[in-house]
Amino acid sequence: MAILITGGAGFIGSNFIIDWLETSNELVINLDKLSYAGNLENLSCFDNDTRHKFIQGDICDRATISSVLNTYHPRAILNFAAESHVDRSIHGPEDFIQTNILGTFNLLDETRKFWDKLDQTNKNDFVFLHVSTDEVYGTLKAHDPAFCESNRYEPNSPYSASKASSDHLVRSYHHTYGLPTIITNCSNNYGAFQFPEKLIPLIIHNALSNKPLPIYGDGQQIRDWLYVSDHCRALKLALQSGTPGEVYNIGGLNEKTNLEIVEKICHILDSKLPRTDGLSYKEQIQFVEDRPGHDRRYAVNADKIQKELKWSPQESFESGIEKTVQWYLDNQLWVSRIISGDYRDWVKRQYA
Ligand code: NAD
Ligand code: DAU
Repeated sequence: MAILITGGAGFIGSNFIIDWLETSNELVINLDKLSYAGNLENLSCFDNDTRHKFIQGDICDRATISSVLNTYHPRAILNFAAESHVDRSIHGPEDFIQTNILGTFNLLDETRKFWDKLDQTNKNDFVFLHVSTDEVYGTLKAHDPAFCESNRYEPNSPYSASKASSDHLVRSYHHTYGLPTIITNCSNNYGAFQFPEKLIPLIIHNALSNKPLPIYGDGQQIRDWLYVSDHCRALKLALQSGTPGEVYNIGGLNEKTNLEIVEKICHILDSKLPRTDGLSYKEQIQFVEDRPGHDRRYAVNADKIQKELKWSPQESFESGIEKTVQWYLDNQLWVSRIISGDYRDWVKRQYA
């Protein structure tokens, strides 16, 4: 038996593989193009482990997908592969259209051909799990109820529009061809191995490098923070017991403003690694120009997955953020290896 993970060298994908192989000996095929965000170092603990098979490949490349499916006959596919950073989608949407829309389409279509040839039992047991985002629902006002699975899709950035489009394609492959698909829409993840372009690792890195801590606009935008291991557990449950054709929202029940997040990180660093001048890391906070079309608030109603799959987040924000800051302190070499020419160019362009 095998499962196929796409984008398994990224932040959530690598956490999922590590988590999965803690309790399973099933072969994991990891198909990843290794974009700037893919990092095999995340999975170095499996260097001599035959349960993890890495294949460098693009989900836009049908021949590769077909060959992987027909060689390894996975019983399930989890599609993590995506361009995932909203700011990058604003500077250059095209890669998002390619991977998130066309890549998902190619993966779905090759999967359908493979699945069509399976015998009835394997067909029934097969799952295509598409990992998506709460951003497809758009933005909330301060007192709006949290996003439910039945909310309208109202994506506001090229990133969320491309994810919305991929969700619609996945839905259509279930309704039209009967492919057993599940879509999960989750909120902002945080934890180990997150690329330092995203808010939490960027703030930790900049703080330690004595650089400004950039807060877009007034810093009062709200996100619903989900510890990555809680997300991985939800995905496992959805894979094992989710109903084909269904959508599950996954959230941390943990709404915080961006300013609260940044101040919390400063507070933890002040106690773990105080600045040599005795001042707080908060001194480095700098309010900068807002993100165009910046969504004001996300919040996820996770009642459905709580009731149907008995999932709830286990990590409190207090413990999760503490562990995360500690992980980045312990893994500064990991970050420094990422801070390559490409990363420097990005930071220069984005924060100019
Ligand atoms: P990430 O950017 O850290 O990793 C993406 C991975 O996909 C990388 O390893 C990259 O090399 C790979 N990839 C990119 N294009 C590819 C292609 N064409 N073919 C094969 N591989 C390709 O992203 P992440 O934060 O781990 O997010 C994983 C998934 O979860 C994405 O689909 C994202 O939309 C979704 N999601 C993320 C969050 C979050 O907070 N990070 C929240 C909700 C949903
Ligand atoms: O909600 C789920 C989404 O969460 C995922 O689908 C995306 O893949 C993921 O990147 C994330 O999107 P966000 O745009 O919410 O995450 P980001 O870390 O980029 O930003 C979080 C908030 O912090 C957002 O309101 C913008 C703000 N921000 C971000 C950066 C990088 C700043 O104020 N300053 C910054 O430098």
